[in-house]
Amino acid sequence: MDRNYWEKIAVSYNEEIFDVLHNDSKKLILSAIKKYSSKKKTVLDAGCAVGKWLPALSPLFKKVYALDISAKNLEIAKKNHSLLPNIVYQRADMSGRKEGIPKCDVAICINAILTDSLKKRTIFFQSLMHCLKKKGNLILTVPSLESALLTKIINNQFRIDSSTAEKNITAKNALKKWKDLQQGNLDIDYVPTKHYLKEELSYLLNYNGFRITRFKKIEYSWTTEFISPPQWLKDPYPWDWMVVAQKN
Ligand SMILES: C[S@@+](CC[C@H](N)C(=O)[O-])C[C@H]1O[C@@H](n2cnc3c(N)ncnc32)[C@H](O)[C@@H]1O
Repeated sequence: MDRNYWEKIAVSYNEEIFDVLHNDSKKLILSAIKKYSSKKKTVLDAGCAVGKWLPALSPLFKKVYALDISAKNLEIAKKNHSLLPNIVYQRADMSGRKEGIPKCDVAICINAILTDSLKKRTIFFQSLMHCLKKKGNLILTVPSLESALLTKIINNQFRIDSSTAEKNITAKNALKKWKDLQQGNLDIDYVPTKHYLKEELSYLLNYNGFRITRFKKIEYSWTTEFISPPQWLKDPYPWDWMVVAQKN
């Protein structure tokens, strides 16, 4: 999942990429953003893609920095939101050099640290610390490894969706998948994607100098996992992790 991947996907972004804002039915992420917002504060949307969160962020903050690694995504975001007055678009790599990453009071980062590369993720987390002013607040959402495994376990037990069940694979692919799993990298649409354990996120944020103030499940419908989920399949629903943390 490098820059090339995101540049290529930009044209079909809405069909290919899961929409967290739309699917967060309890609006927990929006509530967290509102809690820390102020017309005196600046906010960074790290990995903003086509800018789905910008209409929500713009009226709540003095200035919004919409940052993404993909120039094409930013072009689409700019075009979609040309009427929003206080957005600064910035192409930068959160897994690269720190220059070009603005310092803000609040940062949101919604399902952007997905790379299967440990090195890139490590720098991304350091950049999240770097982009915040002292005592600044981070609202982070990432895929849950617990949820992804629960889906696999339920599918194996009840054969709900044969199209997503593992087929016979070659020894070489099996070894690759086994190595991926050691890092929490599970495929989404055949692309190895980082998924996180709750405890893993805790230590990652603490290690990078954050103090966690809130941990929440962002729950979705089972239709996000299975084409036709059975009626009986209810709670627990599939989820992403949302963490709210403060720069120490
Ligand atoms: C799944 S999309 C999420 C988009 C958006 N946050 C949302 O919730 O609608 C992930 C985005 O993160 C961006 N991204 C991935 N790695 C990045 C990096 N190292 N630096 C900046 N942006 C990155 C991608 O280009 C992509 O637009």
